[in-house]
Amino acid sequence: MTIPFKTETFRDDFTFSNSPAAIRRFPFPFDRDAYMYLVNIEQHVPGPVQTTTEFPIDIDEHYVAEMADRALVLKADPLRCQSLPHMITAEWDLLELLMTSMAQHYPDHFTLTRDGDRWHWINRPLGIDEHFTFGEAATLPLPPMEYVTRQCQGDFCLLDQRDDNLWMDAGIVTTQADWSLDFDLGMNFIEWHGPVPLAHDLGVFDRALKFLMNLQQGRPVRRLNWTMTINPRLDTSPENYHVWGIDKAGVTPENVGDKVHLRVELQALWRLPRSNAIVFSIRCYLIKMDELVTQKKWARRFHRVLRDLPEAIAGYKGLSRFRQTTIDWLARHDDGAETSPGF
Ligand code: HEM
Repeated sequence: MTIPFKTETFRDDFTFSNSPAAIRRFPFPFDRDAYMYLVNIEQHVPGPVQTTTEFPIDIDEHYVAEMADRALVLKADPLRCQSLPHMITAEWDLLELLMTSMAQHYPDHFTLTRDGDRWHWINRPLGIDEHFTFGEAATLPLPPMEYVTRQCQGDFCLLDQRDDNLWMDAGIVTTQADWSLDFDLGMNFIEWHGPVPLAHDLGVFDRALKFLMNLQQGRPVRRLNWTMTINPRLDTSPENYHVWGIDKAGVTPENVGDKVHLRVELQALWRLPRSNAIVFSIRCYLIKMDELVTQKKWARRFHRVLRDLPEAIAGYKGLSRFRQTTIDWLARHDDGAETSPGF
């Protein structure tokens, strides 16, 4: 499958948009007209063709532009990529997972040839052709996690498992919904989820942690998370809040369709073979309201979800400033029809 990669930006002039095909495959996250936190974890098995879960690692038309945006973020702030020394084996595990998956499922774009530990990696869209020795960091121009994740869409956290907990001991995080790797590095599962409202009392995190501690190799899992972003900006980090926070104040009834985006994260977790660490991927998809309402059932449902969202969740997600303006705009696209559970 050859993907037509787009030339577009996620900052300044914001030329990002979704093709009709990208809109059709958008991972709309609501299976009913209301939303509440729960342990929404399922097996990461292949989904239908041309969906975002057809392959374990999803590469799409935004690939080249997203990688360019990641490079800009890292240039301005190298602390978006950090790894504690004991995570080096997990870094190699991650490199193997991503290269083998990308080469297997997108052979037009990526090729991996292995002769024992001597590996040859070709990334055609980014013009990379690299020979290196697996396990020997000196043979790559960058540490293995940074090397491979500068070539793969999505943020990645590497979690060490010890003392009955998961510890965020490495990661590359440049497209995050307002949280900071630099702040969370070294924290455990319960600690980094500290700011999330309601879910702790509902037992969501205790149950999710128990489940993940038993995650088996070869049986990855996934879940969807969502928030909203003004303008198609990938880098909505706390480090950069002074740049993007002000955007929220610029939403008006006239520009909702263009400025307000639903931001969906397809999150997947794999147990890694050598290190016994877990990799947590956060693949971000953006869709503006004008694009979203081209699908009638999404418009109807998202209107109701946003309208009835508990205030604590709306506040935590940072929606308060533009929520009502967006609800009023979406109301015009809600014909009041009854819906049934399911996507
Ligand atoms: C939010 C990381 C797994 C549920 C977050 C946040 C981070 C995070 C950094 C933002 C917290 C903040 O505001 O500073 C991770 C990592 C995971 C993981 C690294 C891998 C082990 C899970 C799982 C669940 C979950 C398995 C399942 C229930 C949530 C929820 C939120 C959240 C509900 C709030 C999201 C929102 O309302 O936008 N997670 N998480 N997380 N996480 Fe996780």
